[in-house]
Amino acid sequence: MKIEFYLNDELVEVEADPMQSLLNTLRGNLNKTATKEGCGEGECGACSILFNGKLVNACMMPIAQAEGARLMTLEGLRQTEKGQCVIDALLEAKGVQCGFCTPGMVLALYALLEVNAKPNEQEIRTAISGNLCRCTGYGMIVDAARIASEKGEGLW
Ligand code: FES
Ligand code: FES
Repeated sequence: MKIEFYLNDELVEVEADPMQSLLNTLRGNLNKTATKEGCGEGECGACSILFNGKLVNACMMPIAQAEGARLMTLEGLRQTEKGQCVIDALLEAKGVQCGFCTPGMVLALYALLEVNAKPNEQEIRTAISGNLCRCTGYGMIVDAARIASEKGEGLW
């Protein structure tokens, strides 16, 4: 089946089994490997992307659902001022250690700040509750959200 969608603001077309996951399509068919595969069953958030502006687990979504959708991955988000603001904040807060969760965390923090420019700690923790991090204990990622909120004042 041919499926067309926007990936990082570019129209792309893939030929794939409609039930193939969006994650496997991004990584396998389109060579967009910033999005990671962790659990493969919707539990870890390593595969988080934006789907029509909403955070989703790409491992759980069949590619057929992407027809006509607008998808954003880290490859696209890092080219934007807001995306770079979140990445810089994660680095400043030492919220990047092994880095495996980082692509998903960047997307999750971005999705939060887009709707809530000044989140409190509970709101930040809720926003990243679907994204597992084995390294940081989450405190540094909460700090990163605060830094991105403060340094990105006027951006969000
Ligand atoms: S790989 Fe998709 S949620 Fe874990
Ligand atoms: S930095 Fe290693 S899993 Fe989050």
